[in-house]
Amino acid sequence: FCGEAPGADEEIRGEPFVGAAGQLLTKMIGAMGLKREQVYIGNILAWRPQMEGRRSGSSVQQTGNRPPTEEEMRFGLPYLRAQVEVVRPKVIVALGSTAAEGLLGFGSFKSLGSIRGQWHEFEGTPLMVTYHPSYLLRNQSNKSKRVVWEDLLQVMERVGLPINERQRNY
Ligand code: URA
Repeated sequence: FCGEAPGADEEIRGEPFVGAAGQLLTKMIGAMGLKREQVYIGNILAWRPQMEGRRSGSSVQQTGNRPPTEEEMRFGLPYLRAQVEVVRPKVIVALGSTAAEGLLGFGSFKSLGSIRGQWHEFEGTPLMVTYHPSYLLRNQSNKSKRVVWEDLLQVMERVGLPINERQRNY
C-alpha cells in the first residue's frame, strides 16, 4: 500500500499510517483477511512535508499537513523504487491522488474517479488505484466504502486471496 506522506502521528512514531487514517487502513487490511504485518506500507514521500511553524522553545511546532510538491515527489521516487525492489510486491495499491500521481506521473490523469478501480502498472508491478482512507473518514457513506471495497476485492482476486460470501457482499 502506498500513501502520500507521513502526518504528525507518523512523524512522532516514525512509522507510516499510524494515525486516524492508518487505523482505518488497518481495518481495511483486516477486512481483506490479512494482518498489517503481511503487507508493506509506504508513502510517496518518507518525510512530512514542511509547513510554516510556530516556534516553541528551541523547536518549531508544525501544524497541519500538505501534499508533497512535484519536486518533493521526484525526490522521494528513488527511495520508493528501492522499497519496491526489496519488497517485490505482487501488487501495489495507490491510496489517493498523490500516491497515484507519484506512481503514474505528475499530471497524468484528471480525477481519481476516472482511474480508480482499474489496473495500471508501476515499472512492471500491477497497480490498483483507490481512494485514500482519509477520504473515507471525511465521507462515510456506504457508497464510498463500497467503491473502495470493490477496488480491494480486485486486489484480493489478483493475488489469489480467498473471498467468502460475506466479504463479497460487504
Ligand atoms: N496519510 C498518508 O498518506 N500516509 C501516512 O503515512 C499517514 C497518513
